[in-house]
Amino acid sequence: MAKVLVTPKSFQKYKQKPFEMLQEAGYEIIENTTGKTLSVEQLLELATDDIIGIIVGVDPLSTEVLEAFKGLKAISKYGVGMDNIHLGKAKEMGISVRNAIGTNNISVAELAIGLMFECGRRLSSTINEVKQFSWERTIGTELTNKNLSVFGGGQIGKEVAKRARGLEMNVTIYDPYFNDQEFLDTYEVTRTVEFLDAVRQADILTLHLPVTEDTKHLINENILNQMKPSAILINTARGELVDEKALYEALSNGSIAVAAQDVYSQEPPSKGDSLVQLPNFILTPHIGAYTNEAIERMAVVSTRNLLEMLEA
Ligand SMILES: NC(=O)c1ccc[n+]([C@@H]2O[C@H](COP(=O)([O-])OP(=O)(O)OC[C@H]3O[C@@H](n4cnc5c(N)ncnc54)[C@H](O)[C@@H]3O)[C@@H](O)[C@H]2O)c1
Repeated sequence: MAKVLVTPKSFQKYKQKPFEMLQEAGYEIIENTTGKTLSVEQLLELATDDIIGIIVGVDPLSTEVLEAFKGLKAISKYGVGMDNIHLGKAKEMGISVRNAIGTNNISVAELAIGLMFECGRRLSSTINEVKQFSWERTIGTELTNKNLSVFGGGQIGKEVAKRARGLEMNVTIYDPYFNDQEFLDTYEVTRTVEFLDAVRQADILTLHLPVTEDTKHLINENILNQMKPSAILINTARGELVDEKALYEALSNGSIAVAAQDVYSQEPPSKGDSLVQLPNFILTPHIGAYTNEAIERMAVVSTRNLLEMLEA
């Protein structure tokens, strides 16, 4: 019987319907029951020639791993970001790859907006202080009328832009490939192709683009130095978009005010990581898509995508 490997940790919560879909189609399911993202070594151990499909989370499908799955025909991404899949190798091996577009964009957008409030009002530290029976107040910043630069106007960026307009923010999308004029008109959002303008004018800069060779460390020392000293940086996309050493310097010397991320170059970060320990750096543990609604949609859509690819 042909087998399908299912790696995402959170798939466990909504697996009933997708597993029925896979079993009805005649596949045996190999589950990741470790509760953790699989390493290259663990994936290599699981590799057998009869695994023809993988539903993958953020586990590394490197060249070495793909070569070990000799019978693999299709990879279905449980989510959107494909940077953990060696797409070149998959293409070379004739493996179909598809992501689950439009399944988690609302959840990630809501988190990005939540992190803006967190940065503006320092909610988590203030709440923690009150738990210690302190009654100190930190002066906050309003979001209304602030300039929001949205880098990447795709599925998530657009949802962030819409919500930010609801908060009466001035929203500009920077995305060289954006071509949805109707969206700009409907939500009164502007668009620029001038990268540095979008950096310099931002009271809040939020990242919603993929990490590629071109976008790795897009936010580096030079760019951070051109931001307003009062600026807030939000990154719910990928850790590699930001040069973390440069961000540490910028937050320490006041080049920007505060940064909040849901992603990190190494997840989880090493114990004692200096950036994580800065009071004006906020990190959540990659919870952008971790809502009941998104998990259910990602599980069903990634399963449907896998079945479609295997049946094609
Ligand atoms: N935190 C999480 O849990 C979580 C969940 C889902 C997605 N993500 C990440 O969010 C990011 C965006 O996801 P999405 O679903 O909106 O993807 P998407 O493909 O719908 O949109 C990405 C947008 O980025 C634009 N873009 C590409 N290169 C660019 C560049 N150099 N400068 C500016 N814009 C550029 C594209 O034109 C596109 O409009 C991805 O990196 C994804 O990995 C994170």
